Amino acid sequence: MYLFDTEGKKYLDLLSGIGVNSLGHNHPRITKVIRDQAGKLLHTSNLYYHEYQGKLARKLVEVSGMDRAFFCNSGAEATEGCLKIARGHGRKISPEKYEIISLENSFHGRTFGALSVTGQPKYRADFEPLLPGVKFVARNDEAGLEAAFSERTCGVIFEGIQGEGGILPVSERFFHLARKLCDRYDAILIHDGIQCGVGRPGAYFSYQLLKEPVLPDVVAFAKPISCGLPMGGILMRDRAAAAIAPGMHGTTFGGGPLVCRVALEFFDVLEELQPQMARVGEYFREELRGLQKKFGFVKEVRGAGLMIGVELDIAGKTMVTDGIERGLLFNCTHDTVLRFLPAYILKEKHVDKAVGILKKIFAKY
Ligand SMILES: Cc1ncc(COP(=O)(O)O)c(C=O)c1O
Repeated sequence: MYLFDTEGKKYLDLLSGIGVNSLGHNHPRITKVIRDQAGKLLHTSNLYYHEYQGKLARKLVEVSGMDRAFFCNSGAEATEGCLKIARGHGRKISPEKYEIISLENSFHGRTFGALSVTGQPKYRADFEPLLPGVKFVARNDEAGLEAAFSERTCGVIFEGIQGEGGILPVSERFFHLARKLCDRYDAILIHDGIQCGVGRPGAYFSYQLLKEPVLPDVVAFAKPISCGLPMGGILMRDRAAAAIAPGMHGTTFGGGPLVCRVALEFFDVLEELQPQMARVGEYFREELRGLQKKFGFVKEVRGAGLMIGVELDIAGKTMVTDGIERGLLFNCTHDTVLRFLPAYILKEKHVDKAVGILKKIFAKY
């Protein structure tokens, strides 16, 4: 759970490389498989079989409810592939069926396709014009979603819990409506689980947290899956996979033996950690709610599992630097939301330490 800087100062890390170092730093099981695999085989390309990719694909489809998996190297690359699946699906029906619906305040990555569906002007403005045919609706605006849909819609993309946007969940009703409209208009429902997935929200993916779970057609994942090594991917149902024939999509580095083996080890450890993650996540939110009672500028504590946001009435940026000085790492998104994405090995004792530091930081405001 700890990082050390060049002077040897120790930091409790509650951001984990923006949700990436899922088992913390130097986890003995991860270090061991990396060392072992480094001495055997690092890369084969997708022209040749290796023993870990198929096993990992099977694991992922089992835990997600999808049928197929494609591996790439980052979140943005996963988003790009998702958009190609939606476009490919639409194109098979009509050349006019190319529109994609996304949400305001969303974040899907910094490549051109991903930026085109990212609903925040500050990321887009310097690079416009972006992809045509993208409509944005407000999160949980059911009437807006219905109005944006037409026969031209080939796909809808959203995060189950907006991460960079401030730890804001999509409602159960909105999720179900999106599913219904995708079925009605023969469009692809894409779930961006890059930040709110692979165990972080207290389920494998946030759509599994709904009272009546909904299955998307396509699920993007990245960040925590390979414990700090770059890996992303796309899970899809057969209906969506049918849009992509051999040769239509690919990547050189995706799904290599090192990252796949590490991800398999990660899943083994994750299964052991799940009860602890649920307990400690709840404890963390409760302790933060305790701070909310003491400090009037804390508006809301929200999130799921180990994806936690604290919304303030005031700017949070200086609290982040204050945290660094006091040996606690977290960040601030959207100016006023303190964001915590700790490693899955978080324990109550780490929460106690963090909340003690936060109390001292808050007392200055
Ligand atoms: C929800 C979401 N989608 C996509 C991305 C882009 O991922 P990457 O930075 O690996 O390209 C991020 C990164 O923060 C994200 O949070």
